[in-house]
Amino acid sequence: MIKKCLFPVAGYGTRFLPATKAMPKEILPIVNKPLVQYGVEEASEAGIQDFGFVTGRGKRAIEDHFDISYELEHQIAGTGKEEHLKSIRTLINNHHFSFTRQNEMKGLGHAILTGRTLIGDNAFAVILADDFCVAEKNQDGVLAQMVKLYNQFRCSIVAIEEVPIDETHKYGVIAGEPMKDGLYRITDMVEKPPKDKAPSNLAIIGRYILTPDIFDILERTAPGKGGEIQITDALLEQAKSGCVLAYQFKGRRFDCGSIDGFVEATNYVYENVYRKNKK
Ligand code: G1P
Repeated sequence: MIKKCLFPVAGYGTRFLPATKAMPKEILPIVNKPLVQYGVEEASEAGIQDFGFVTGRGKRAIEDHFDISYELEHQIAGTGKEEHLKSIRTLINNHHFSFTRQNEMKGLGHAILTGRTLIGDNAFAVILADDFCVAEKNQDGVLAQMVKLYNQFRCSIVAIEEVPIDETHKYGVIAGEPMKDGLYRITDMVEKPPKDKAPSNLAIIGRYILTPDIFDILERTAPGKGGEIQITDALLEQAKSGCVLAYQFKGRRFDCGSIDGFVEATNYVYENVYRKNKK
């Protein structure tokens, strides 16, 4: 069983400045819900109840979002506006949220290692809230699909999708042996390769299931691309001595770390969720 999900949320969100000067990028709303809440809901649908956040300076709003605002609830009690707080209140009532700080920015691998105290010694999920994922109609979300695979194979799994070959420099990129439809056993992984060095056009997106031995590997992983400790490098080591899978998920991903992806996601949710619910 995957019981915990880690959210590395310490990044600065420089691409959204000045919006992210005093506000965490993870709190930016897609229509009327913060990006990070969609991630928590996706993990909740996958059966996860325990959430760990690796935060940093200026990220207090995330903690406040996943806490009860008694004053606000008191103010709007009886006005009919309580409805707007229902989704977050339900999450708060049924889940557990804990927080730790990454006080130096040393990469995604370092952020995940910082979350070790919140995770312990079990396999866990990681969601990068920037990658906003929507399921196909009436189908499982991306993390739920991955949890099912984990229950079958019991090893680390990364979500992948095909990207245009001239975009490989934005992602971790894998090479793998196909096992069954959409599932590969990883043979190579490179963090943000230029297109002539990319082993394929299969890019890792921000959904991982990691077995806990990844922490010891991360502890000895030297800084890689950009001088940062990369989860991609640690996973390659894990793949060499065991098994790491890559799964071409069903659904759609929006890169909400970019303005274009963020606007596309906003339009998508407005048309397909918000307006439909209003009708
Ligand atoms: C991180 C990972 C990268 C992955 C990407 C997915 O990069 O390092 O391997 O492909 O997330 O969004 P970042 O976008 O944080 O630079």
